[in-house]
Amino acid sequence: MKILVTAGPTREYLDPVRFISNPSTGKMGYAVARAARAKGHQVVLVSGPTFLTPPTKVEFVSVTTAQQMFSAVRRWFPWCDGVVMAAAVGDFQAARPSRRKIKKAGRRRLQLTLSPTPDILAYLGKHKGKKWLIGFAAETDSVEKNARQKLKAKNLDWVVANNVRQRGAGFAADTNIVQVLFPDGKTVRLPKMTKLKCARWLVGKIERNLQRN
Ligand code: CTP
Repeated sequence: MKILVTAGPTREYLDPVRFISNPSTGKMGYAVARAARAKGHQVVLVSGPTFLTPPTKVEFVSVTTAQQMFSAVRRWFPWCDGVVMAAAVGDFQAARPSRRKIKKAGRRRLQLTLSPTPDILAYLGKHKGKKWLIGFAAETDSVEKNARQKLKAKNLDWVVANNVRQRGAGFAADTNIVQVLFPDGKTVRLPKMTKLKCARWLVGKIERNLQRN
């Protein structure tokens, strides 16, 4: 199969030296790319800034902002059979980023106006055709309810949900505790396992249930 994977955070710049981002390290997405490649699939990995080394024999596309990730994903989408959207895409960007460093002199407050970034996965959901789409859901509460809403709203095949407040799960951890939600209402709860093991499970499940040729 041809699999497009996204990973890592995005950065939305306020000025040349400051940005808004999130604690994603890219571990989950890189693990999916590695596991898929190890099973002989062709993989394109679109990644925001991380400290990880890209897996070998994977086409690697490095991006910084949500807009850039959107462009790269749109470029590779026609090529793939399906997408694993593990990236933690920033939801807001500076409405008017400053071209010069914002100075603090004389300021007691700094008010920022943010505008939404494109929802990449929602866009893919609208244009998916016969491709399969797997989204992630990072939640702090009502995990299953919120994740199920995303599954529906973004027209996904599966959503992999985790509670980012739980120990051993979510951002930066080497392990994850996920539940995978399906459109027929079923949920599979996986025990705490390394992100690589979780990725191998996911790739196996994709091969069994989503491979269409
Ligand atoms: N996502 C995306 N583009 C965005 C935001 C999110 O493609 N601008 C994708 C993520 O990669 C993930 C899924 O949508 O696969 C859900 O992301 P999440 O941050 O959990 O949810 P949001 O859609 O951002 O909704 P909310 O912030 O309200 O929880």
